[in-house]
Amino acid sequence: MEKILVTRRIPQKFLERLEALGEVEMWDHELTPMPREQFVEAAKDKTALLVTLSERIDATLFEAAPKLKVVANMAVGYDNIDLQIAEQSHVQVANTPGVLTETTAELGFALMMATSRRIVEAEKYVQQGQWESWGPYLLAGKDIYQSKVGIFGMGEIGRAFARRLKGFNADILYHNRSRNMKAEHELGAFYTSFDTLIKESDFVICTAPSTPETQNTFNKEVFKNMRNDAIFINIGRGDLVVEEDLVEAIENGEIAGCGLDVVRDEPIRTDHPLLKYPNVVVTPHIGSASVLTRDQMIQTCILNIEDVAQGLLARNQVVTNTH
Ligand code: GLV
Repeated sequence: MEKILVTRRIPQKFLERLEALGEVEMWDHELTPMPREQFVEAAKDKTALLVTLSERIDATLFEAAPKLKVVANMAVGYDNIDLQIAEQSHVQVANTPGVLTETTAELGFALMMATSRRIVEAEKYVQQGQWESWGPYLLAGKDIYQSKVGIFGMGEIGRAFARRLKGFNADILYHNRSRNMKAEHELGAFYTSFDTLIKESDFVICTAPSTPETQNTFNKEVFKNMRNDAIFINIGRGDLVVEEDLVEAIENGEIAGCGLDVVRDEPIRTDHPLLKYPNVVVTPHIGSASVLTRDQMIQTCILNIEDVAQGLLARNQVVTNTH
């Protein structure tokens, strides 16, 4: 008999599947995370946790929950989880790769189109009654067609993004920890140094996860090295960007705009300086948010919990780099 904690409201059909495994406690809120103390308290007697990125899974949590066998994270990223302590505590950690790849790439593309063609600004312009006539350069933007797009992080999401660029006849540059031969052979993506990627690209797309190596990658110097007409898109993690430096780059016209689905402190404060610029588009971390994909992510979490309940390795087990 498992004892399972689910930290957000999930549809009844999924709850029932978990109930087939044992006793389930669910935090019955869609948008409010479980307060930390309540979360740690509720985890104490649990064997499995189905959590979101809002929950920090650290030493305190593992110490408080000695019966824990598996943490199923409803995300592909797992920077909210201390993998080393999980391993020392003999707890399996699982994520949801694969199912969200295309959906997340699509949101990245939506941000690229929104920023390049100034869609949000244009919509406000109409809403505010400013549309008086057609103008030769009214809200003129930048083409993706035949542009040079630099992808930082050529994993599954990077490759799905690159695939979409084929229809735009764009040159695809990428930089990654290691070469991605599939992206090179199938999509003609061209591997470059980070420096070249930054200096040459019309669009710089960040899809990389947060790791000690990637954090703060996009800083003052990097933004200065970008083209003044470049647009920066981040669908990876907020802490890859030094936000004060991004604000400065936008303020000084060092880059032409940015589209961010992730920021350092989520949710972003409404008085955050980034929100005052018309050429900055921020979405609330909705990369994987299509109904189908969210269903599949929950289902993947359940499959991982079922695997562990049967004494198997979770099919999407995440392991530390030391392996
Ligand atoms: C979302 O950011 C995820 O990692 O799935």
